[in-house]
Amino acid sequence: MKYETINNDLFKFNRKNFTEKLQRNSIAIFHSSDEFPRSGDQHFPFKQNADIFYLSGIDQEKSILVLFPDSPDPKFREALFLLKTDEHIAVWEGHKYTKEEARQVSGIQSVFWLDSFDKVLPSLLHYAERIYLNSNENDRYVHTVPYRDLRFGLDLMNRFPLHQYARSAPLMRELREIKSTIEVELIRKACEITEAAFRRVLRFVKPGVKEYEIEAEIIHEFIRRRASGHAYHPIIASGTNACVLHYAENNRECRDGEVILMDFGAEYANYNADLSRSIPVNGRFTDRQRAVYNAVLRVMKESIHLLVPGTLPAEYNREVGKIMESELLGLGLISRHDVEKQREDMPVYKKYFMHGISHHLGLDVHDIGHRYRKMEPGMVFTCEPGIYIPEEGLGIRLENNILITADGNVDLMTGIPLEAEEIEELMNG
Ligand code: GLY
Ligand code: MN
Ligand code: MN
Repeated sequence: MKYETINNDLFKFNRKNFTEKLQRNSIAIFHSSDEFPRSGDQHFPFKQNADIFYLSGIDQEKSILVLFPDSPDPKFREALFLLKTDEHIAVWEGHKYTKEEARQVSGIQSVFWLDSFDKVLPSLLHYAERIYLNSNENDRYVHTVPYRDLRFGLDLMNRFPLHQYARSAPLMRELREIKSTIEVELIRKACEITEAAFRRVLRFVKPGVKEYEIEAEIIHEFIRRRASGHAYHPIIASGTNACVLHYAENNRECRDGEVILMDFGAEYANYNADLSRSIPVNGRFTDRQRAVYNAVLRVMKESIHLLVPGTLPAEYNREVGKIMESELLGLGLISRHDVEKQREDMPVYKKYFMHGISHHLGLDVHDIGHRYRKMEPGMVFTCEPGIYIPEEGLGIRLENNILITADGNVDLMTGIPLEAEEIEELMNG
């Protein structure tokens, strides 16, 4: 791992909070993500499952975490089962956690090799009434590929049909939505790395650069600062490409007079940053570009004011819609008449701002979140308004990451240049 050691108080605290939510005499089992084949004998880079990481800090494939707070044998109250390693295996297969390292990382004392799991598991289950299984319940997406936790659960239900089964996912969602101090520091670190990359890009961009050259500048800065890489596929979209929300090619030349919309973020220690900025290729916005830019910026600033404890997501979205509507009227993109005849389920602003304003951010970029839960201190949201005008070859999105606190919120990207004039100054400095 490129990141520095994380204080294992984080994982101890998370396990304590999770196990307190379990019903009596229950066992919960979590697995690593699968490794996905990339070619005949290679995998895509491994990305740890967010839940097992949250509860253990273990960042290695094929790991299993068992939490059984009422276990008659204290050694199984919390236990890890990990890929076996020794000096010989380490030479051939690379470094894997030793038992001592796994104890240090996780704060869990009972570490066993994976090859003992199948024998140990039944003897634990015989003394548990309920088994909590983990499942991916991120409601932004329907995954069709089975994963380790799911395959394991199906097998277990077949072999132990008389146990009661329960879902860990709602408990994990409730916990993961609220970030602790250490988590916020890790997200901050991801934001700082992202800031360094953005500043590098401001110095680099000029007419004629290719989108992929900008992408290369970003990854260079990320890796040298210990990020594991991009938090998600970066969008470097110049001119009209900016109006394609999931533009991924990054292969076009950036031309004089255009704006480049960039949406990228670093992943550090599995925590993510999610930034969007839109900058003029030649270092100066035209009057029209500036007008649209400042409209988006005003929507962002006003929306951030609404990210405070007690706000319901649905209310927030409605309010942001009204703010955006008024800015689009100001830009002459929609008319009073359009507004008067709009349907409630199809507001006219969606023609130019068609995506959501915010999502939770954390171990996942689109982090797990409860759609109907009011905002609370410790939640981290993106705020990302945009206006996309294909007929003008112009798309502008601005995105910062905001921590909700008891008395308002904190912008975790506050140091990242945002005002149009500041961007211009840095590009021409
Ligand atoms: N980069 C993905 C998003 O902004 O949600
Ligand atoms: Mn983004
Ligand atoms: Mn986002």
